[in-house]
Amino acid sequence: MARLGKGDIVSIDDLATADIERIFDLADGFSASLERGEPLNLASGLIMATLFYEPSTRTRLSFESAMHRMGGAVISSADMHASSAAKGETLADTVRVVGAYADLIVLRHPSDGAARVAADYAPCAVINAGDGSREHPTQTLCDLYILRRKKGSLKGMTVAICGDLKLGRTVHSLIFALARFGANIVAVPYNGMKVPDYVLERIAAERNYGFSSVSMEELRSLAGGIDALYLTPSAPHQIALFTSSSEMPLQSAPPSIAAPAALDAFYLTRMQRERMVDKDGVKDAAPVRFGHFDARALKTSRTHDAVVMHPLPRTDELAFELDSDPRAVYFEQAAAGVPVRMALIAWLIEQSRGGMRPKPAAASIRFKSPPRCANANCISRHENAYIMARFRLGRSNDPSMLALTCDFCERELRIEFVGHARSHRYYHFEQNLYGYVRQWIEEGSLAVFESVKQAEEGGYEPYRRGPQREIMSAEDVAAACRAMAAQMVADLGDLAAVSLVGVVSHGAILAMRLRDLIEAETGVRPPCAALDVFGGEAALRSLDGAAPFEIGDRTIVLVDDVMNSGWTVQRAMNSLWHRGRPAAVKLAVLIDRGHRAVPIRPNYVGKNIPTARGERVQVRIAAEGSLRGKAADRVVIYSMLDTLKEEVAT
Ligand code: CP
Repeated sequence: MARLGKGDIVSIDDLATADIERIFDLADGFSASLERGEPLNLASGLIMATLFYEPSTRTRLSFESAMHRMGGAVISSADMHASSAAKGETLADTVRVVGAYADLIVLRHPSDGAARVAADYAPCAVINAGDGSREHPTQTLCDLYILRRKKGSLKGMTVAICGDLKLGRTVHSLIFALARFGANIVAVPYNGMKVPDYVLERIAAERNYGFSSVSMEELRSLAGGIDALYLTPSAPHQIALFTSSSEMPLQSAPPSIAAPAALDAFYLTRMQRERMVDKDGVKDAAPVRFGHFDARALKTSRTHDAVVMHPLPRTDELAFELDSDPRAVYFEQAAAGVPVRMALIAWLIEQSRGGMRPKPAAASIRFKSPPRCANANCISRHENAYIMARFRLGRSNDPSMLALTCDFCERELRIEFVGHARSHRYYHFEQNLYGYVRQWIEEGSLAVFESVKQAEEGGYEPYRRGPQREIMSAEDVAAACRAMAAQMVADLGDLAAVSLVGVVSHGAILAMRLRDLIEAETGVRPPCAALDVFGGEAALRSLDGAAPFEIGDRTIVLVDDVMNSGWTVQRAMNSLWHRGRPAAVKLAVLIDRGHRAVPIRPNYVGKNIPTARGERVQVRIAAEGSLRGKAADRVVIYSMLDTLKEEVAT
């Protein structure tokens, strides 16, 4: 029976900020104990198993040293080729078995998401020591620990992360952590090795965070001084680095714009050659142009105080001449592996004494036959004999595709065709179907297809539209907008504290029309923004040029064309709250269909149109400046799901 509880650390985000701070405090204590040569027996009686399916020097040996230093024991399979994995034993079976021999498993594996699978199957705690190109959370603990020791607070510091930002797992965990601690990041990827979208989308959605990227060539212009380098701010707190919040191109800036503030650290990484495969999954031996970092980069006024970090091992991206420079801290990072990993084990012991409970996993979508993950290196593709692919709704902002996120590797799968499993109808996905898709997910009746052929071979028929009927003309739409603007003027009070946010795309056009009507009546022109509820880094965009769009303490009127189930509005509200704390949020919709899945009632309604669930309301609103003008506005209703209608009603 394991005595450490089931406190798995698969991602750096499995540790709360207070947990990380506690681990650092413990690490300070262990560093001092190690220096004094004090014997420790905190982990006496505990056994740690290290299962390394990939080579390692630092992670495995420092974990093992940490456990020994604390009086615990270690069993190890440093080379899984010498274990039954070589006979074809699955990861799930291996960790089930080893979990009966040990209290803690430290796992390194070449597949993305392997640590998630191990955590799901092992009866004891699992620590991710690097899974494919995904994450390496305990390396990040070492990195943050040294950064904090060298630079003080992590908040507000600026770190240039350089190298293979696509496949380097240490970088991904580090980005998640720096975003959380409010540090600024400048990404400097090797050619073609940019930070993957799923990492960017996660920090944008969960932390409202983004960062700038510059090329290696631009970084090399350091020979002329980083003072010559200008960056594009992309997140509110990063704008503090600049004297202007306007978008600046990556070139010499006009004299009125100041250069970015000093860098606190360079974080270098090697090219992850062992993970490079071509599009067919074949190991790619193509030569890759490497960057090379040397002391010249530290000679400018903005870099001379920067520390140089590297998770190691290095290849030829980092000059050996730097090793004797006091700003080179990479060997200190590696040395910190022992006290930090001791602290992590001690923290797990503390947690288990407090009755640690495994975190409830976010619910996955139930599919009868799930699609295959698009990532060839996902564990769900390598061990598909027992792993059922699992997905959640994704964050992509492409309205023509349904985005699903793999639960194991977090990569996004874009789906073009969706189906309803009971009616056996399939549809070409479009944004208006999103509410239905949410409903089908709840019912367990969502099916997805890569192609029409796949849908039809699965026995699905194409959806056929029923006859369509106009329910609002252009004049009706204009009258409804006037009525809504009048309701808002009468109700909102101080219009100077009001801003409008339109849900992309029709809601944004309606928001601008409402703003014009309010201005015509009162002379007050409220700020206006467009919100893309499908997320992404630039989900909220001011419609007033470069002027920043404020949310905090404002009364926000959220504008949408149709209130169907209410899911879009709920998503929009979540997105707004991630960006600030409004004084109040009001909802204005052109059409309220009257049936909702969430308890949200619009404050301002253009027209109430009670409809059956199987009917579909389609709004056409002419874009501003459209040559066809507002005469193109039209609202129609038609029967959408003729077979599904009866199914849903039962
Ligand atoms: N930094 C790191 O993970 O090193 P190893 O691969 O040697 O464990």
